[in-house]
Formats: sequence, C-alpha cells, structure tokens
Amino acid sequence: MGTKEKDYSQYFVAPDLKQAKKRGKENIEVVKFEEIPERMQQVGIGKNYFIDTFGCQMNVHDSEVIAGLLEQMGYERTEQAQVASIILLNTCAIRENAEDKVFGQLGRYKHLKMENPDLILGVCGCMSQEESVVNRILKSYQHVDLIFGTHNIHRLPHLLQNALFSKEMVVEVWSKEGDVVEDMPKVRTEKLRAWVNIMYGCDKFCTYCIVPYTRGKERSRRPEDVLEEIRELARLGYQEVTLLGQNVNAYGKDFKDRVYQFGHLMDDVRKIGIPRVRFTTSHPRDFDDHLIEVLGERGNLVEHIHLPVQSGSSEILKMMSRKYDRETYLNLANKIRRVLPEVVFTTDIIVGFPGETDEQFEETLSLVREMEYDSAFTFIYSPREGTPAAKMKDNVPMEVKKERLQRLNELQNEISLRKNEVLRGQIVEVLVEGVSKKNVNVLSGRTRTNKLVNFVGPQHLIGELTFVRIEESRTWSLNGVWQDTTAQKVSG
Ligand code: SAH
Ligand code: SF4
Ligand code: F3S
Repeated sequence: MGTKEKDYSQYFVAPDLKQAKKRGKENIEVVKFEEIPERMQQVGIGKNYFIDTFGCQMNVHDSEVIAGLLEQMGYERTEQAQVASIILLNTCAIRENAEDKVFGQLGRYKHLKMENPDLILGVCGCMSQEESVVNRILKSYQHVDLIFGTHNIHRLPHLLQNALFSKEMVVEVWSKEGDVVEDMPKVRTEKLRAWVNIMYGCDKFCTYCIVPYTRGKERSRRPEDVLEEIRELARLGYQEVTLLGQNVNAYGKDFKDRVYQFGHLMDDVRKIGIPRVRFTTSHPRDFDDHLIEVLGERGNLVEHIHLPVQSGSSEILKMMSRKYDRETYLNLANKIRRVLPEVVFTTDIIVGFPGETDEQFEETLSLVREMEYDSAFTFIYSPREGTPAAKMKDNVPMEVKKERLQRLNELQNEISLRKNEVLRGQIVEVLVEGVSKKNVNVLSGRTRTNKLVNFVGPQHLIGELTFVRIEESRTWSLNGVWQDTTAQKVSG
C-alpha cells in the first residue's frame, strides 16, 4: 500500500472499486445484531463521543445507529469535538466539494490528536468506501486511527476495540455489501420525526454517480421489520416518518419469496397511526401505477414527491443512463397529478454534464418551467473517479457551468416564490418543530408538503400538529398566523 512507516497487515481490509461494482446473485440474509463484546460494554463510561455527519439522510440515520452503538458501550454524546474521546466523521462522496470539506475537517482535528494522543479519530461513511480516499488518508492523514465503511457499521465495537488496544491504524472496509442487519441500537436525534431505512444500496448506476459503489447492491428490509419499526415509532409518539432508500421505488424487487413492492409497503404503512409518512428518493423509472393509486388514498401519505429529474434533455438523460426520457418523465408527473392534483413536486438537477450544449441546458430550463417544481436541489456536475461519466470528454468550461447554475437557480427561485404566493390566505396544517432559528419568540414547523412555516404561537404547540393561516410568502419559507381552534370551539 506504499506505507513504509507502519505495518497494517493485521487490521487492514481496504476497499476495491472493481469488487464494489459487481452485482452477484448471492442471497442476502437478514441477521440479528449480535451483542456488544463483553470487553467493550463499559469501555466508554465517563467518556464522550462526537460525530460529524456529512451528506444525505442515509448518513444522518447511519449516525443515529453509530450513536446507538457507542452509547451501548457507555459513551455519552457531546457537541464539542474538543472534549471527545472519540471523533467520527461520517462522510459523503457525492461531489468533490463534499470530499474537500471532510479533508479540511480532518486537517483541523489534527491538533486535537496532538493534544490528546488517546483520542480515537475515525472516518466512516461513503468516502471510506473509495480506494483513492483510503490511500490518501494512509499517505497524508496518519493521525487517523480508524476507517470503516457503510457495510460494516455493526462491526464498530470490534473495530474500536482494535483501535483502542493497538497502535496501528485500523482499516476495515468491505467492498461487497454484507447481510441486512436488524435490531441495531439507535439513538434518534429527534423526538418528532424519524428516519426509517427500507432498503440499502443502489443498482441504477447512473453514469455520474458514486453511490452504487459506496452503498452496494439493492437490499430491501423485510416488510415485517419495517412495519414493526414504524409501529414502535407511532407508540413512542413520533408524528412523522421518512422512509429511506436511494431508490425507494425498487423496494422489494429483490424478494425471491414474495411479490411485495413499494406500493404494497405504502399501503400497509398507510394503516399505521402515524400522522405523516414521507419517502425519499423516488427514481422516476420504477414509479408504478399501483404506487400512484395507493398515494391517491392520501391519509398519512403526504402529497409531496421528490422526483429527481437531473436534466430536461433526453440526450443528456441517455448519457446519464437515467433510463427515462423527458417525455416519459413529464407523462409520469401528469399521471400523478391526475390522481393527486394538489401534489407538490421537488427535484434534483445537475448542470454541466460532460458535453452539455446550450440547447440541452435550455431544455432543462423549459422542463423546469413546465413542471413548476416547488423547489429544487441544483448542482454543477462533479466527476467521480471510477464512474463512466468521469471518462467522458467534457468541453464545457467551468465558467459556463456556473452561469448555467445561476440561471437555473434564478428561474427556480422565481417559481418557488410564485408557488408560495398561491398559499397566501390559506390555512395549512403545520407540525410544530420548535422555535424559529432567527427569532426565539416565533415557532416554526412544516406543512405536509415540507414547506417551512414561521408563526407566533404558544410554546406548548411544539411537537403538535396545528393550523396556521399563511399571511406572507417568501422563496424558502412562509409566515403565518396561528389559528387557535380551541378558542374557536369555546366561542362556539
Ligand atoms: N438516489 C437519488 C440521488 C441521491 S444523490 C436519486 O437518484 O434520485 C443526490 C443528488 O446528487 C442526485 O440526485 C444528483 O442530482 C446529485 N449528484 C449525484 N452525483 C453527482 C455528481 N457526480 N455531480 C453532481 N451532482 C451529483
Ligand atoms: Fe445515484 Fe442514480 Fe442510484 Fe440515485 S439512482 S443513487 S443518482 S446511481
Ligand atoms: Fe453522500 Fe453517500 Fe448519501 S455519497 S449523498 S452520503 S449515500
């Protein structure tokens, strides 16, 4: 591995991109999490841990599992890295700037390690799954003690044991996904809204994307386990769950013993008494009629669909290997709108894909005008080593890409504001999350369609569903007046 200083042979399993790309036929087993080894059960008593989480909701939820494991070993959470005995960076590999942030942070933690040689500094998450990243850490970030990946989070107690009791850097990254591990401990950071994994991995291999390599092949959790987790959350008083997967519409396609897909799951979740159910992310390709029909039942299934389009040009979509074209995407959206006219669509868009012409970019703008998304996450294409798009010839200058991003954002902001204006005067249901970040006298929460609402109201509303009349619309938020329904009842 080009590392002369240390011998990693004992604790060294590095990622391998070729292995990560393979999709075998082997069956995925569902296994139960084994107990924390006895030697590790109290190792953290009187000590703190700090987790720095980057990237998507999948990582946010993985950090909740990591926190669960650490707390079972006696560690307590801290929000201050300086007082922690263990610091973990749960990383994201989706774009270069995401990776740069992590390397910057790793550099900054170096002095903590110098001050406290007993500190365990670990790197996990999607970047750990990349060969180039592990090599770079070995070469230039020798103050790191532990690297583990997305497939072996459940191994943390064992790996931590190795890191604590050996002087070597412990690296264990599996290139091939393992089994689906159930009953992992979790410490959820929120009391109102919870994340629930329904599947892991991605088999879509969009040509620009690193996720299929960092998260492995698609594996669905069994419906019994998912439904039980949601029932338990309902019992605990959670008001909202978000079902997580890179491509939730592929849920269940890997089951060999039954026909049970995402539509079936949503139909069962619909019957659980939890007020709001969201899901992310939906790939347009697998969005089937049964699912649309189930969503049409409404109830706790909210009328918000995040439907990443990536580009409005069929040629670019083809080069991205998205497996749909502009027309099928628009037809799907219209089909959904026929069943759910009040639906709110949001999306992800990449500008400056290799070779994207002005005309092709204009097609993205025209699709955005046609779709009228309520909001969009927009990105400049970032080449990821090992993906097919990284090898494509790219003659679009960075200046042009930046300009395109700006034009797209201006258009989207205009549409977002216009869409929010429509809500003025309407009464919306808000799940009150807490006080506003900007003003402690103001409460804030979200509508069923995930729009941020600020309003003045009594603190006891926090954690509850209430009604607010929208008075002022902004691009990214709404201001309103609380509708005191109890007062109305009293006054008749
Ligand atoms: N599974 C989700 C996407 C997860 S990644 C889906 O397919 O819908 C979130 C978003 O990051 C993607 O939708 C895409 O817009 C963006 N993205 C992914 N890879 C990227 C890259 N190499 N450069 C720029 N943006 C990228
Ligand atoms: Fe990446 Fe495409 Fe999979 Fe989404 S569906 S995670 S963009 S490969
Ligand atoms: Fe990033 Fe991995 Fe999520 S690459 S976006 S953290 S799946």
